[in-house]
Amino acid sequence: MPQTATAQAFDALYRDRVNPQWVRLLDVLQMNVRYEHCSGAELFTTDGRRILDFLSGYCVHNTGHNHPAIIEAIQKELERQGPAMLQSHVPELAGELAGRLCSLAGGRLQKAYFSSSGSEAIEAAIKFARAHTDRAGLLYAEGAFHGLTCGALSLMGDPFWRDGFGPLLPDTEAVPFGDLQALEQKLASRRFAALILEPVQGEGGVRVPAPDYLRTAQALCRRYGTLFVLDEVQTGMYRTGRFLAAHHFDVEPDMVALAKALSGGLIPSGALLMSDAVYDSVYNSLHRAIVHTSTYSENSLAMRAGLAALDVLESERLAERALAAGDYLRGRLREVLSRYEMVKEVRGIGLLNGIEFQAPEKLRLRVPFEAFMKIHEGMFGQVIVMRLFRDKGFLTQMCGNNFMVLKVSPPLIVEDSHLDGFVQAVAEVVECMHSSPAFWSEALGLARRVLHI
Ligand SMILES: Cc1ncc(COP(=O)(O)O)c(C=O)c1O
Repeated sequence: MPQTATAQAFDALYRDRVNPQWVRLLDVLQMNVRYEHCSGAELFTTDGRRILDFLSGYCVHNTGHNHPAIIEAIQKELERQGPAMLQSHVPELAGELAGRLCSLAGGRLQKAYFSSSGSEAIEAAIKFARAHTDRAGLLYAEGAFHGLTCGALSLMGDPFWRDGFGPLLPDTEAVPFGDLQALEQKLASRRFAALILEPVQGEGGVRVPAPDYLRTAQALCRRYGTLFVLDEVQTGMYRTGRFLAAHHFDVEPDMVALAKALSGGLIPSGALLMSDAVYDSVYNSLHRAIVHTSTYSENSLAMRAGLAALDVLESERLAERALAAGDYLRGRLREVLSRYEMVKEVRGIGLLNGIEFQAPEKLRLRVPFEAFMKIHEGMFGQVIVMRLFRDKGFLTQMCGNNFMVLKVSPPLIVEDSHLDGFVQAVAEVVECMHSSPAFWSEALGLARRVLHI
């Protein structure tokens, strides 16, 4: 079969055998293109288009797509033909990576447990917090996203993710993100093993907390014997301009979950960093040496990719780049978007940014907007995403738990010309939303297609 026919056949197999609904969704949004080559911030399609990635696989591609140094490191590891998943030896690369991660994280974080995903790191945090405190309760923040395995899902309130999968873990409770009074009320019961928070909520709408929120939350946790756990699956690995977002807020968590960008976007990997005290509560005897493990977790490809990703992040000074590019991007976006009534705020930290939209006041816009919201609350944002992709060549997405916030998180290697192009593209789409009936008629057409397929 020729190449394209083969690809089409596999496409059809994916449609039949893996996830037909996902393919239909991409079709409806006109985002079902075939990618031939991905490099840095650029994605090239088989039909000759260049798309700039301003989503980074939800903060996976901090070092950009297919970084040559990371590919080379993985290739060398494969060629070495070492003990990739022997499960009966001391994997020295896991030791080397753990050493580097712990020294970059600092504070109490002295040990690493490796996993193969972010959810799995959160599952470990749940178990370890319970083992350490001998308490069952788990506190999380409204709007949180911690992953879709049963334990992690128990730390998320949105019924969209939860419905139909219960009963989930008992003894989990939510507090509003940023509300210290509500937090203290819960903690004072001394029932909670851990407070698990994203330092900056990603899917909740890129919510950056007030400067003293995390520090005070940590102090309250210490007062009431609850572990202070940060989920840095999106915010870690320099995404916000520091190795951990925790470093912006001057906190020393008892555990930190990492994943996504940890291995350069090429090999699945996650990690839970923790204090010696937490570690000692779990692996506390020879008998319990392997009481919590996972087959793939310390595999040498993921560990080698993690080491290479750290080398790239450090040698290319991507922390500084994230800070400078983020400041520049937010400044430019505010400049061009502040005059539009449907833009509520541009916010973020480093290269984790969001543009929040709001319902319009003017009747001319309010009528189609409200019609739209009645059909589906996510539809409005999807039209923005679709237009940015199809008409302007930018891949973005709305936040998973807040459909009014457009996530803007390009790879940290993004160039100023890419940022300028994005600012212009967003400005044009927002102008069209405010002035052109075509924006709304196309949007209603999309809504109808969704309802009828
Ligand atoms: C903050 C956060 N935590 C945990 C997870 C779960 O990670 P994974 O999808 O690798 O299981 C995600 C995934 O998007 C996330 O954004």
